[in-house]
Amino acid sequence: MDRLKNPFSPGAGSPPPELVGRDLDLEQANILLGRIKLKRSEKSMLLTGLRGVGKTVLLKQMEHLAKESGYRTIFIEAMENTSLAALLIPCLRNLLYDLNRIAGAGEKVRRGLAVLRSFISSVKLTVRDITIGIDIEPEEGSADSGNLEIDLPNLFKAIGEAAEERQSAVALLIDEIQYFNKKELGALIVAMHKMQQCQLPIVLIGAGLPTLPGRAGEAKSYSERLFNFPDIAALSPQEAAIALEGPARSWGVIFEAAALTEVYRLTKGYPYFLQEWGYQAWNIASSSPITLEVIQNATAAVIPRLDKNFFRVRFDRLTPTEKNFLRAMAELGAGPHRIGDIADVMKMKATSISPTRADLIKKGMIYSPSYGEIAFTVPLFDAFMMRAMPKLGEG
Ligand SMILES: Nc1ncnc2c1ncn2[C@@H]1O[C@H](COP(=O)(O)OP(=O)(O)OP(=O)(O)O)[C@@H](O)[C@H]1O
Ligand SMILES: [Mg+2]
Repeated sequence: MDRLKNPFSPGAGSPPPELVGRDLDLEQANILLGRIKLKRSEKSMLLTGLRGVGKTVLLKQMEHLAKESGYRTIFIEAMENTSLAALLIPCLRNLLYDLNRIAGAGEKVRRGLAVLRSFISSVKLTVRDITIGIDIEPEEGSADSGNLEIDLPNLFKAIGEAAEERQSAVALLIDEIQYFNKKELGALIVAMHKMQQCQLPIVLIGAGLPTLPGRAGEAKSYSERLFNFPDIAALSPQEAAIALEGPARSWGVIFEAAALTEVYRLTKGYPYFLQEWGYQAWNIASSSPITLEVIQNATAAVIPRLDKNFFRVRFDRLTPTEKNFLRAMAELGAGPHRIGDIADVMKMKATSISPTRADLIKKGMIYSPSYGEIAFTVPLFDAFMMRAMPKLGEG
């Protein structure tokens, strides 16, 4: 069929042709955005889910909702080895300059800039070797103690007051939020706590791996009272069918029931995989309907593609010891698994493999869904490990 018309969109953060199964989360975001503007308290949202489940596209959709309801938005993606301050400062500066352009009386926006300036001098930040310039004197003694847990809340307060003065509101959207260290995550939580106490119009919507609720709780025990942690999960068989049939139907193309069943069996309803199978099946099919046979042929094309890209980029970041650990996990199946069982497969003691376990959690490859258990953060990674390392202990 015509490749140019192929509606499917496999890729990191590529908006799907149809955002299926997320209505409740979007509704919750709308309630949050609406209530904060009315100065009513509402828990911020931290979306959690496995790799490729659709967190980034959902976060982008929530940014869209925020803009529609009159918010100014900041969208950042946390990365390993980049500080929260380095990511936030340029965005906050732009935001304040933007607010400065809105007509309105008062000094709060200028004060916001002065506080940001003193915050910058305290984190001594240079972004790409250039110190970010703000043409205003710092407000000494505000947000410059050098303790992020004190300074970030004070900075947010100054910004929240500036936004409020200009009858505006700010939505801060942070992707991959699990990459912030404990101090940064703690500071962000304290800052949001302050926004709630002072009823200032700043909303935080974040997304990250399932390790996030635990990490937030470790950083600040009250975080569960401050945030909702919606679980962004794989789609149900019915939703998966809609994700495939909806976009195809707009070109007059349908799927046979057996084809849909097979795609669900293979993808387990994970959105990224659904897009991959849909995309390849479309290209392989010569005409509608898309049959079981087409799906089987698509599978032969999809698996090597996933192995070469989606799985391989993660595999290549692992040390030989980490590979062996994951291979042992894969030996036991999709999981979750007990650390003792993994140690048994590796013929080692649980205590001697726990440093590797910690490294893999830090790299975002595994997480602990419940006490004493670990699981892959990448769906279907167990099957990939079996293909990539046919024998145990060869990492
Ligand atoms: N609700 C949905 N329905 C159909 N397809 C979706 C849905 N959500 C996401 N997708 C598709 O899934 C793929 C992955 O989405 P996205 O990059 O947002 O996932 P992610 O959870 O952010 O992954 P990662 O953890 O690797 O960053 C994209 O190709 C996207 O088009
Ligand atoms: Mg993402």
